[in-house]
Amino acid sequence: MSAEKITTFDELFQTGLADIYDAEQQLVQALPKLAQACSSPQLRQAFEQHLQETRGHVQRLEQVYSKLGLKPERKTNTILQAMTQDAEKKIQITEPSPVRDAALIVCGNKVEHFEIGSYGSLRNFAELMSQPQEIISLLEQTTQEEKKADQLLTQIGESEVNPQAARMRGQLTR
Ligand SMILES: [Fe+2]
Ligand SMILES: [Fe+2]
Repeated sequence: MSAEKITTFDELFQTGLADIYDAEQQLVQALPKLAQACSSPQLRQAFEQHLQETRGHVQRLEQVYSKLGLKPERKTNTILQAMTQDAEKKIQITEPSPVRDAALIVCGNKVEHFEIGSYGSLRNFAELMSQPQEIISLLEQTTQEEKKADQLLTQIGESEVNPQAARMRGQLTR
């Protein structure tokens, strides 16, 4: 598939798949760093659990490719690259603390929303292309796991990490 021009719906679908396939692989590399940098055991566990799920997301996409009769293709996802660089930067510029944990939850939520948006459209595209139900359900299963991961991060943030971080007040700097 040429990277330059997209003229058909099929090409748009394939580009989207290649984009998210690369994103998931970047996340397999990035999530252990996030887990390691956390102070909250609950948050660390959430990142570690989602790392396992993310490995499954890579495999599901490989199943999608195989059912489509295509070779898995990675297309450098620069949005995810920027998001993981941002998370690494946040780790560099914070101390292990609830403030860092709160920052990492923000990064995590953003990534999950990106994934939910990507998979939601891919699933709908697959439906419109009358792809086999198996492909649609593989994409749907991952969407559900992304939603759950997003909700868990929000819950850990709102119930535990953010209230602790809110105690570390200074002055608003200008
Ligand atoms: Fe994922
Ligand atoms: Fe995810």
